[in-house]
Amino acid sequence: MQTLTSIETLRHQIQAWRHNGQRIAFVPTMGNLHDGHLNLVQTAKQNADKVVVSIFVNPTQFGPHEDFARYPRTESADSLRLSECATDVLFLPTVETLYPQTSQTQVSVPEVANRLCGLHRPGHFDGVALVVCKLLNMVQPDILYLGEKDFQQLTVIRRMVNDLNIPTQVVSVATVREADGLAMSSRNTYLSQEHRALAPVLYQTLIETREALLENANPSLLLTQRIQHLEQLGFVVDYLSLCRQQDLHEASAEDTDLVLLVAARLGSTRLIDNIRFER
Ligand code: PAF
Repeated sequence: MQTLTSIETLRHQIQAWRHNGQRIAFVPTMGNLHDGHLNLVQTAKQNADKVVVSIFVNPTQFGPHEDFARYPRTESADSLRLSECATDVLFLPTVETLYPQTSQTQVSVPEVANRLCGLHRPGHFDGVALVVCKLLNMVQPDILYLGEKDFQQLTVIRRMVNDLNIPTQVVSVATVREADGLAMSSRNTYLSQEHRALAPVLYQTLIETREALLENANPSLLLTQRIQHLEQLGFVVDYLSLCRQQDLHEASAEDTDLVLLVAARLGSTRLIDNIRFER
């Protein structure tokens, strides 16, 4: 595995691979890697000749009172895990490389971004769209691999890639879970022991809510009851919503491809999860 920090050396390597007709996959991350990330890398390697992974804690996607400063930076351990797991290039740019002082351009996908998490984290998805757009221009991959845990992020990026005619296929990979069902996330390490024990209730709630909806429960009544139940247990719920998979608009009775999404806080840790289903 090569570790590259400059856009020039990255482009040089990519051009050499392209010259040899090799297919390139890309997995963007913010580091503090867990098995969910490694699963993305392994899936990428099964479908491409070369895999580029980036680690960049992107300041533009954090709000002023969010966890940018304390976000876990574990580059040595991450680098070791990636080198043992089919990564060809680890791209580790600095903030100055990604965002030179002259940088002004914004990327936003308002219709998909300004709902759900976007209402609670203003500007978050603009930051995600900008950094992913820039990284895609640097790596120019054939395939981009993203986890389904952040379903809204996936939807925003799919729309951006489509709208901007970026010649990259976006492939999503199922959420990897702990044995008790909690979706793997770099932020799980923030949870106290007590909150860690409670956290899997979020996924159980999604499963039970899906079952009730498939048995024709009234969605708005059901969602209100489930939110109340989570709050009684100690969660502070930002939302529990039933949406259309395609654009994350609130689902109507006619919609068939659905996704239940939840965001809730335990102490200062914000957890998100979702479950897709058809009816
Ligand atoms: O999901 C993440 O880790 C980040 O939002 C991403 C896609 C790497 C952009 O910074």
